Amino acid sequence: MTRPNPGPSANPLRALDDTRLPRIAGPSGMVIFGVTGDLARKKLLPAIYDLASRGLLPAGFTLVGFGRRQWSKQDFEDYVRDAVTASARTEFNENVWSRLAEGLQFVSGAFDDDAAFDNLAALLEQMDEVRGTGGNWAFYLSVPPEHFANVIHQLDRSGMADQHTAQGGNRWRRVIIEKPFGHDKASAVELNAVVNSVFPENSVFRIDHYLGKETVQNILALRFSNEMFEPVWNSHYIDHVQITMAEDIGLGGRAGYYDGIGAARDVIQNHLIQLLALVAMEEPTSFSPRRLKAEKLKVLRATTAVEPFDRTTARGQYTAGWQGSEYAVGLREEEGFDPESTTETFAACTLQINSRRWAGVPFYLRTGKRLGRRVTEIALVFKRPPYQPFTEGQTNLLTNNAVIIRVQPDEGVLMRFGSKVPGSSFEVRDVNMDFSYDEAFTEQSPEAYERLILDALLDESSLFPTNDEVERSWEILDPVLEYWAEAGRPDEYAAGTWGPQSAHRMLEQDGREWRRP
Ligand code: BG6
Repeated sequence: MTRPNPGPSANPLRALDDTRLPRIAGPSGMVIFGVTGDLARKKLLPAIYDLASRGLLPAGFTLVGFGRRQWSKQDFEDYVRDAVTASARTEFNENVWSRLAEGLQFVSGAFDDDAAFDNLAALLEQMDEVRGTGGNWAFYLSVPPEHFANVIHQLDRSGMADQHTAQGGNRWRRVIIEKPFGHDKASAVELNAVVNSVFPENSVFRIDHYLGKETVQNILALRFSNEMFEPVWNSHYIDHVQITMAEDIGLGGRAGYYDGIGAARDVIQNHLIQLLALVAMEEPTSFSPRRLKAEKLKVLRATTAVEPFDRTTARGQYTAGWQGSEYAVGLREEEGFDPESTTETFAACTLQINSRRWAGVPFYLRTGKRLGRRVTEIALVFKRPPYQPFTEGQTNLLTNNAVIIRVQPDEGVLMRFGSKVPGSSFEVRDVNMDFSYDEAFTEQSPEAYERLILDALLDESSLFPTNDEVERSWEILDPVLEYWAEAGRPDEYAAGTWGPQSAHRMLEQDGREWRRP
């Protein structure tokens, strides 16, 4: 039955859903801890500029940097300007910049320095007076995890975490936290306890920047706004699912951060398991944060790593090799990386979902640095038809049907199916039907961080994983990590290839193979 279109004015509440109205943050400001770090320079500051240039920040928006450098306001302005001109998505505009620059402030200090945090608290009050930030502040922790507890404690001690003014007036205080959120379940539980002892869960925004990507949100549109996919989205039709996040870059300057963390903790525990949740979850009754997260958590609770791990997982470290026309050094030659380290730069594992929809369908997850090319995709590979009235020769070049969600680059969705090759013989071969964002839409996709920062300022928490999701993701991965910790050195793979031989064997023994995107 088709639903009659009620017309634009039938229900006045619909106006609230009017997608033409921009979502603009109310009076507020943001403090970034770790503002001199890589992430802030390359992603956060440019994203804030892009939001300003799209007119989505409030007039008095104020951005306070906190760090150890002895910077004046002017030094900070110069630094932010450099970051913006180097990496912002939208064109640099002097008017936008000067409005944003008026609201830039810097506070110098270390994370254990009470006086510096008291200065920060005083500055925020002053900004509320002069810039109209309304007492509403988001604290962005772009700092190594060992500093989380210190900063949270300082925000508490100095009164900055209080959701009410001393006079009992309303204001909001939120904390935005970057991963890694713990290094296993136990440490994540500890961290959550520290954060939640100061900030109520609805004021905590844990960043998984993959959820801010348009194509990742499109998984929900693809599955739940269409009728053609959902009926076949289950173990009756799907043979297996491959989730790949491949990077062509090496560790570069991040060796210090990465050593001891590795590919599984860096990417599988968060980005890939979140992708799995969106692909595999049941339809939520609405997209309200509570309903959406309930479904994600439910499917994660049904997800476990498949054993025995010597067959169902693989890990590796890259060695020197040619990446296209560029020669890349091996991991052990990377500056700042301990050559004896067993930290993996490639990780793959097999997960299963114990539910009626997915029982028997392996989910193969892999990620790695210095692989063949940069690509993130989710491939749902279908079973073969139970009977095919063709001779073998006619379908030699036919593989399994597949739906491939291309998260990046070349964002889009691809369907692979068999088609008759033109000619007098009857030969069937794979063809692709390709939807590309670039061709279908004129709008440019915002950067993930633009979306997520705006959502945090707007108190829209759908795209932020809860503490339960984070802890459950660790629970899924911990047995694999424990096995690897006892299993000695990772295998090797040459830069520019698709991972160690063990990764290929992992699928071959199941009669399958990884896609070469
Ligand atoms: C981060 C990881 O979360 O994602 C990095 O810590 C990785 O190691 C990065 O390089 C990749 O993000 P994107 O958006 O470029 O795929």
